[in-house]
Amino acid sequence: MESYDIAVIGAGAAGMMCAAVAGQRGRRVVLIDHAARLAEKIRISGGGRCNFTNLHAGPANFLSANPHFCRSALARYTPRDFLALLKSHRVTWHEKHRGQLFCDHSSEAVIDMLKAECDAGAVVWRRPVLVAAVRHTDGSGFSIDTSAGVIAARSLVIATGGLSIPKIGATDFAYRIAKQFGHKLIEMRPALVPLTFSEDRWAPFAALSGVSLPVELGAGPKRAEGVFLEDLLFTHRGLSGPGVLQISSYWSAGEPIRIDLLPGRDPAGELLGAKTTDRRQIGNLLAEWMPARLGHAWLDTNGVSAQARLAELSDKTLRRIGEAFSHWTLTPSGTEGYRKAEVTKGGVDTRELSSATMMSERVAGLYFIGEAVDVTGWLGGYNFQWAWASGVAAGQAAADFA
Ligand code: FDA
Repeated sequence: MESYDIAVIGAGAAGMMCAAVAGQRGRRVVLIDHAARLAEKIRISGGGRCNFTNLHAGPANFLSANPHFCRSALARYTPRDFLALLKSHRVTWHEKHRGQLFCDHSSEAVIDMLKAECDAGAVVWRRPVLVAAVRHTDGSGFSIDTSAGVIAARSLVIATGGLSIPKIGATDFAYRIAKQFGHKLIEMRPALVPLTFSEDRWAPFAALSGVSLPVELGAGPKRAEGVFLEDLLFTHRGLSGPGVLQISSYWSAGEPIRIDLLPGRDPAGELLGAKTTDRRQIGNLLAEWMPARLGHAWLDTNGVSAQARLAELSDKTLRRIGEAFSHWTLTPSGTEGYRKAEVTKGGVDTRELSSATMMSERVAGLYFIGEAVDVTGWLGGYNFQWAWASGVAAGQAAADFA
């Protein structure tokens, strides 16, 4: 039987970071993963360039039933720490939008860097290897039945991520292990995901597929509303784009979302004000404010001809059209699901984990890190920052514990 100080299951973002840190602290670490290709989610992330962190990452950018949990780990491993690591491996990067940092060339650079860091810590790789069962052996730690034999370890770190994109190896392993050891789960659901609408609700907009514009959107109860100023993208089945992915994390089934299609403007007031001076057709005027196809579809659904001149329309109609732009409220029928979701919201309840070490308060030596736990970041590099920070916290703590 192979024996180690620490076994890490899941060689993704959090697992590789954790294994590297613990290995470099002199612990004998084994890193186990079932996938044939290493760290596929890092590879495909950020359109192949990995949006590996966000300069502004802080607790306010994360959703959790226990909002303060992420504070300690994020404070102890910051975006600057990750940048220093990239620099030491000569990986170059650039900022794209609101603090989002991407590799200059390819996300492979991040994978290679983490692999080299694991090698520097003499981490033993076991992949692709299937894990059949995990047992807690009183006094001596954990025993892991794998397709490569039984592996014993004093500490066990679960870093198998969430449920999104099953076709590249996502499983419910972390949640099963959590339940096995008596941990509670916060209900899981797809997040950072496009929203869909029933066919008849979407019929007037389906032809707008591909249209994109900057909007203000919001979802969730007033107290904990997620509001973002971001791009919206129309699709055949519903709405996507960065803004919609952001609010999908705040949206609950059956609830409406709110969209201001013309943020910063008062379209009702402007339409009424232009009525006496502007001799144009309303469709032509709207084409100055938004993609012409959207303006026309909007007038259509409101029963107004795009050819009508402003002066021909009643004040009531102009006010109704204008206010509808500012206060578009619509209820999605669902989401595109884990097939398209970037992350899983919910997961292992953090109220039973130490926020300093990620260790279970139920089973000494058992850790949960990364996306598997109930900490969900916004779109824009936050989820990787959580993977790095929680990985470092557990790597240091497990090395001291083992
Ligand atoms: P991760 O998913 O990285 O790793 C889990 C590992 O566990 C995998 O290697 C898997 O094979 C393994 N595993 C699973 N089940 C197992 C089992 N039963 N036995 C053994 N091994 C098992 N975030 C961000 O900040 N910036 C970005 O640009 C993007 N872009 C992006 C694009 C797309 C398409 C997706 C789907 C996601 C993103 N994300 C992102 C989110 C980000 O990828 C994600 O939050 C992190 O990878 C989570 O890191 P973890 O290490 O927790 O899981």
